[in-house]
Amino acid sequence: AVRVFGEAADASNSVAAEIASLIRQRADDGEQCILGLATGSTPVRVYRELIRLHREENLSMKNVVTFNLDEYFPMKPNAAQSYVRFMNEQLFDHVDISPDNIHIPDGTVTPDRVTEYCQQYEDAIDTAGGIDLQLLGIGRTGHVGFNEPGSEQASTTRLVRLCEITRTDAAKDFGGLEKTPQLAITMGVGTILRSRRIRLLAFGEHKSAIVERSVQGAISDSVPATYLHDHGNVEFVLDSAAASKLN
Ligand code: F6R
Repeated sequence: AVRVFGEAADASNSVAAEIASLIRQRADDGEQCILGLATGSTPVRVYRELIRLHREENLSMKNVVTFNLDEYFPMKPNAAQSYVRFMNEQLFDHVDISPDNIHIPDGTVTPDRVTEYCQQYEDAIDTAGGIDLQLLGIGRTGHVGFNEPGSEQASTTRLVRLCEITRTDAAKDFGGLEKTPQLAITMGVGTILRSRRIRLLAFGEHKSAIVERSVQGAISDSVPATYLHDHGNVEFVLDSAAASKLN
């Protein structure tokens, strides 16, 4: 399904409201809510609204368990560009989530242990009961998480090589392309597709071409976001600029 909002802020508030309602529903049942989270510029307003709901409308995140999609590799958690730091600053430091419930791929594992580590990340998602709702952004290559073109539908958490376009988009954060990581650890397409709900957010004119190919194109590994067509509960949540090339 595709939902188009006039403004990114309204789209973000709507997704935050859905997440909050899921968290509250699970809390009422005495259960945990398992969220898959994304970084980057797109979900920032969702996190800001969740913080507001926590502060002003009594939303507790004590029953929330999170799994982030990805992390650059190698990456120290305290580095300015790390997704650990991003999540702490944009969300976790401002709500009552338990630090034990937070999972972000570890950019410090040694290369010889990466495969084993990635399997443990998959196992941790399964042990938690699987992801209830996965939040996604989309890269200009059509990547979800860091599943770049060529990624397989059944792929799981693994070490991947980033596309040049993706590195170019990230270069401003790293002070130049040559300082931008080549690699990342990401959940796989298969990992993402096992989530019970998927909400992909895309905002702005610069996303309109890839949104068009993702929504209207046939399923193909050349645009990994097209794999989402196979999922039973997925929504592309767009602002009017990102939706402007859709028929
Ligand atoms: C981030 C992630 C990426 C981003 C995508 C869009 O955790 O997995 O797929 O969602 O690169 O990034 P922004 O939102 O900065 O345009």
